[in-house]
Amino acid sequence: MKSALKVGIVGLGRLGQRHAVNLAWHVPGATLNAACSPVAAERDWAAANLPELALYSDYTRMLEDASIDAVWLVTPTSLHADQIIAALRAGKHVFCEKPLSLDLAQCDRVIEVSAQYRHLQVMIGFVRRFDPSYRDAFDKIQEGAIGRSFMVRSQTCDKNDPDGFFVRFAPTSGGLFLDCSVHDIDLARWLLGNPRVTRVFASGTIAIHEGLRDCGDIDNGVAICEFEGGRIAVFQASRTMAHGHDTQTEVIGTAGALSVGRNPRANRVEIFDATGVRNECTPTFFERFEHAFLKEAEAFVASLNGGPPTGLTLDDAREATRIGIAMRESLTRGEAVNF
Ligand code: NAI
Repeated sequence: MKSALKVGIVGLGRLGQRHAVNLAWHVPGATLNAACSPVAAERDWAAANLPELALYSDYTRMLEDASIDAVWLVTPTSLHADQIIAALRAGKHVFCEKPLSLDLAQCDRVIEVSAQYRHLQVMIGFVRRFDPSYRDAFDKIQEGAIGRSFMVRSQTCDKNDPDGFFVRFAPTSGGLFLDCSVHDIDLARWLLGNPRVTRVFASGTIAIHEGLRDCGDIDNGVAICEFEGGRIAVFQASRTMAHGHDTQTEVIGTAGALSVGRNPRANRVEIFDATGVRNECTPTFFERFEHAFLKEAEAFVASLNGGPPTGLTLDDAREATRIGIAMRESLTRGEAVNF
């Protein structure tokens, strides 16, 4: 029997801890052998909450550990490109959280280096492709259930955080479009059959978080993205929803439409009271995509253990960044960006 893939996780913050728990206990074919964080409190968390593993404060030292087959990067986006390249040069497979980079030249550099290490795989975590509902919608489109799909409407809207977390996060996240809409961009390309983008127009506003103005970011935005062959996508992103995390997508075809997540309910309980009939809402992205994060890890580990490819390429990740950058440029310039 093939021995389990040995994984080292890098970054144990908001999302890294979730990935670590999945890899430690729930992903067949993988074991979590190492964790790396420059923050002592996060390493303490790992020692207390994960099975026995090697702990590193320095990523370079972790890469010297020859027993590790793959690294799992859940670090700030600004570090992704350099950390992927270092892992490849150390002979490791790489999972890296989205987006690949905020800079197109850095994306190209990763693609170039990755081509020199063809025996190693790199996957960027566009988690929604592994969500069972999005996967079902994709399969139904492939089977022709809605005819020829030509339009996607997709949104990523977070619950308002009055503490202003987004404001502190904004300078390294790339802004609303590159941080949030990048998911919708990847979905639109996937669900529409990877058409070539031709033009983008974006607009936005600050509804609540005035502090975003200093780094040119917004807390609510919309964008239209035109693709070749008359295909089109409409995106919305928000940091200020009152009701909770509301991610939903609609795909419209010549013979029907499919909708994923139209009611962002937390569960199937309906509350009947003096205010009417209602559902509680999913609080954050994690509750909505908890299962998809596990499926994503399972799919990548299976692929590294000789299973089918995940279908997500570095070119897909580069294209999502390219379109996200164009949306930000369009917002700044107040005019459409033509490709
Ligand atoms: P975070 O700030 O909570 O965590 C970042 C982690 O990286 C921390 O543990 C920090 O100690 C560590 N770190 C910082 N510098 C490091 C270095 N030089 N070497 C090793 N570790 C280092 O950030 P969060 O929210 O967990 O986001 C991390 C990544 O995950 C981002 O790229 C973000 O875009 C992505 N993300 C993806 C989501 C999705 O839906 N797929 C949702 C949320 C975040």
